[in-house]
Order: sequence, then C-alpha cells, then structure tokens
Amino acid sequence: MDGKPVRESVSTYSELALPTDANMLGHLLGGKVMHLVDLAGALAALRHARSPVVTASVDYMNFLHPVRIGELVVLYSSVNRVFRTSMEVGVKVFVENMITGETRHTSSAYLTFVAIGKDGQRITIPPAIPETDEEKRRFENAGERRTYRLSMKQKAKS
Ligand SMILES: CC(C)(COP(=O)(O)OP(=O)(O)OC[C@H]1O[C@@H](n2cnc3c(N)ncnc32)[C@H](O)[C@@H]1OP(=O)(O)O)[C@@H](O)C(=O)NCCC(=O)NCCS
Repeated sequence: MDGKPVRESVSTYSELALPTDANMLGHLLGGKVMHLVDLAGALAALRHARSPVVTASVDYMNFLHPVRIGELVVLYSSVNRVFRTSMEVGVKVFVENMITGETRHTSSAYLTFVAIGKDGQRITIPPAIPETDEEKRRFENAGERRTYRLSMKQKAKS
C-alpha cells in the first residue's frame, strides 16, 4: 500500500467561543474544547484515510489557560503515525483574542482513530510519511505513546 505525506492530512478548524458554551465563570467549558479537539482530530484522520473513522482513545489533556467568550478557538491537527488500522493524530489548540490579535497555546492532545470500511470492519490505513524533522520526531514519539496507551488499556481490562 502506497504511503501519503503527513502534510496532506494537515487540517485547521476554528470556532468562536459562544455564551451558550460558557461555564459559571464565563469561560468556555472544558468539554466544549474536548469536542472541538475530537472534530479537529477527525478532520486530519479523514483527510489521510479517506474513509470513515471512529475515535478509539484520547490521551490526557491539559487546559493551560481559560478561553474567554468571544475569543476564537483555532485547532491544528495532523496524522503523526499510522500503525495498521489505527493512527495517532496530534491536535494543538490556540486561542486568538479578536480585538488584540494576541494568540496563546491552550491545549494539546493525542487521539487514536480507527478506519472503518464499507462493511463496518476495520481497514488498513495507508502509511503516513513524515518529511520534516518535526514530523519525524512526532512519528518516533508516537510509537512510544502507543506502547504506553495499549498497556494502559490492558491494565484497565484486567
Ligand atoms: C476502537 C475500536 C474500533 C477498537 O476495536 P477492537 O475490537 O478493540 O479492535 P482491536 O483491539 O483489534 O484494535 C483495532 C486497532 O485499534 C487500536 N486500539 C484499540 N483500542 C485502542 C485504544 N484504547 N487506544 C489506542 N489504540 C487502540 C489497536 O491497537 C488496533 O490498532 P492497529 O490495527 O493499528 O494495530 C472499537 O473499540 C470501537 O468501535 N469503539 C467505539 C468507537 C466509537 O464509537 N468512538 C466514538 C466515541 S463513543
């Protein structure tokens, strides 16, 4: 199966933080950010696999700064590495103040998506080929994260 460059999966997703998604302090709900991370991750996974995908897991997430209502949440995603029927996608979340133009990094997350074929069965995904130094670094680190992730899944089962 021919591989595809990582750059073809690179995706951006933006959404304005609205009052309907505010917590009691007037900041964006963490759960809303998690929803956007899942969507942004799915975009990169879909772009790479060109087949339906399901979220198998989301690694831990930190929220470094609150997002104020009226700010723009901008999410960048790309495939880090394909294993067989699953792939790791990295998502970086930034927030832009629309008045000052200031941006800040607020969260990062790694998600695993599994590709599903027409008959509902898992399918093999084309390899993602890292080209830049950063893509190569992410590719290497994704292997270590997968080992940890699957060991945690095993622990949770037993
Ligand atoms: C994700 C899912 C397809 C995995 O199915 P499964 O029967 O456990 O299949 P397997 O154990 O053979 O795993 C399939 C692949 O997913 C990977 N995988 C499974 N669970 C994983 C997890 N928790 N984290 C990371 N990867 C995982 C496996 O390593 C394997 O990858 P590979 O083919 O690249 O080696 C299945 O659990 C599922 O459909 N879950 C619901 C998905 C969903 O609805 N998500 C939306 C949120 S509710």
